Amino acid sequence: MGQPNNHNQVINLGRHEKVMEIALRRGFLWPSYEIYGGSSGFYDYGPLGAALRKNILDIWREFYCVREGFFEISSPTIGPEEVYIASGHVKSFVDPTVECKKCGEVYRADHLVREVLGMETDGLTTDELNRHIEGIKCQKCGGGFGEVWTYNLMFRTHIGPGEKKVGYLRPETAQGMFILFNRLYGFYRKKLPFGVAQIGRAYRNEISPRQGVIRLREFTQAELEIFVSPGEKTHKDFGKVSGDSLRLVPRDGSEIEISAGEAVSRDIIAHELLSYHLILTKNFLECVGIPREKIRFRQHLKTEMAHYAADCWDAEVCTDRFGWVEVVGIADRTDYDLKAHESQSGVELKSFTPFDSPKFYRKKIVVPDMAKIGPDFKGRAGQIVERLKGLGEDEIAAFDEEGYIEFDGIRLDRNYVSIKEVEEKVTGEKITPHVIEPSFGIDRIIYCLLEAAYNERDGRNVLSFKPRVAPIQVGVFPLVAKDELTAVARKIYSKLRGEGYYTVYDESDSIGRRYSRIDEIGVPFAVTVDFDTLKDDTVTVRERDSTNQTRVKIGELKDKLTIGKMFP
Ligand code: ATP
Ligand code: GLY
Repeated sequence: MGQPNNHNQVINLGRHEKVMEIALRRGFLWPSYEIYGGSSGFYDYGPLGAALRKNILDIWREFYCVREGFFEISSPTIGPEEVYIASGHVKSFVDPTVECKKCGEVYRADHLVREVLGMETDGLTTDELNRHIEGIKCQKCGGGFGEVWTYNLMFRTHIGPGEKKVGYLRPETAQGMFILFNRLYGFYRKKLPFGVAQIGRAYRNEISPRQGVIRLREFTQAELEIFVSPGEKTHKDFGKVSGDSLRLVPRDGSEIEISAGEAVSRDIIAHELLSYHLILTKNFLECVGIPREKIRFRQHLKTEMAHYAADCWDAEVCTDRFGWVEVVGIADRTDYDLKAHESQSGVELKSFTPFDSPKFYRKKIVVPDMAKIGPDFKGRAGQIVERLKGLGEDEIAAFDEEGYIEFDGIRLDRNYVSIKEVEEKVTGEKITPHVIEPSFGIDRIIYCLLEAAYNERDGRNVLSFKPRVAPIQVGVFPLVAKDELTAVARKIYSKLRGEGYYTVYDESDSIGRRYSRIDEIGVPFAVTVDFDTLKDDTVTVRERDSTNQTRVKIGELKDKLTIGKMFP
């Protein structure tokens, strides 16, 4: 803030270039590692960018942690290999990749085919991509391409000295929440449904990130994992939102405007819980400042869906530069992750639902006759008893009927056991919960917001951030830099900060230039102290978007500088 504003005049750039120029010059976004020549896919958030992100995350927390009651956790960003073998990322988190034989430029093969040949590439096999790429030349040097190979996007590392223990930087924050299922379930007093939130860095070694903060190698996700009974994908407040409208692009490619309730009843959205979260996502995006008409939800094609998903809708925002950009993925991950971690770790990850009253079942059990098994099988007797304990109902039935059973190279005849029918009391049911996951990409939301907030007035830049989102909420200025005015202005500056406003003070250049300077970084209010202030304790409050100026008593500033309602 407060730097000379020689660049405030709009030069002839596209909207994206203008926004990125402001972001760079005024301290929102800076390409990382500049003094070492830069490293693509990494961005620093400067002071205003970091404040903007903080405000967006505060609103996100209010939506989900306060309103929905989901507690937030924080897990490590590096995980041992087993985690990502179980999650399927080691095997399936891959992109088809191709390299120019002449200049070595690497491309994502399906994107290259889509861009150059203008065809849909979802679901194409490596062989099919190879066939299409035969006719394509390198965009950079005109060279030919080698064979398509699959490339895993995870950053691989080692945990501890040496190379014995492989680890990965997390490609999503989600796994940290699945792994903690038993502890979280206990925390929520063993009741479904419950939701967990996590905000943090995710890492993907993207092939050739060239789209600023839209495609980063390290980015911020804000994710929710909502654990539910498979048969109860509903929400207690669905009735309150079922009439709200959604702009949908279902799998068939049509585009429709439909209410959340009708989308479920017509089987366009699989269930109420997904539909509820589409509405909540839309409300959140609008609340931070993305205009409603720029938001739509696109259903993933079957071939496009992540390996864990049964259904997925992307919230997309329409941008000038990149067209429709996915900013949030809302997926029904079913029981995929809990089952995968259960099988990899050997630890049961299930919920228990008690019945209203106990149920009684008749079942067969096998009782080993140790007087016979011991002498006849000697050292293997213990192993046999263990195996018999683990027999399932079908195996016991077959043993009973056929008169013998075989396992581990042993044949055991029916006369070594007695098979009895007993009554079993069952007090409830163990199930693997299903998971609904809204996954927000905060950097993409920030880019879309910057683009949406940008406008020009009289040839000058304005970022029309909502007051709650604006990195700085008030600018305090003396009309001229005279001691009697600066003393009062500094007092107001200090008072407003004490009241919780993000505030800046500026006394350099003309008042017009100072207004322009804060308009360009989206400050919604300016408070100006002039000579009348010394007489009657009033100041001028200027509103950024209307440029209206009102005279206000210093003591009443708080009523005028309204940061706005939290929720739409
Ligand atoms: P894309 O198809 O664009 O690569 P994705 O489908 O892989 O995205 P998800 O895996 O669903 O994205 O990730 C959830 C969210 O995280 C996305 O909606 C997006 O906002 C964000 N995200 C994913 N990859 C990146 C990235 N490389 N840089 C910035 N944000 C990202
Ligand atoms: N957790 C969803 C994703 O990052 O893919």
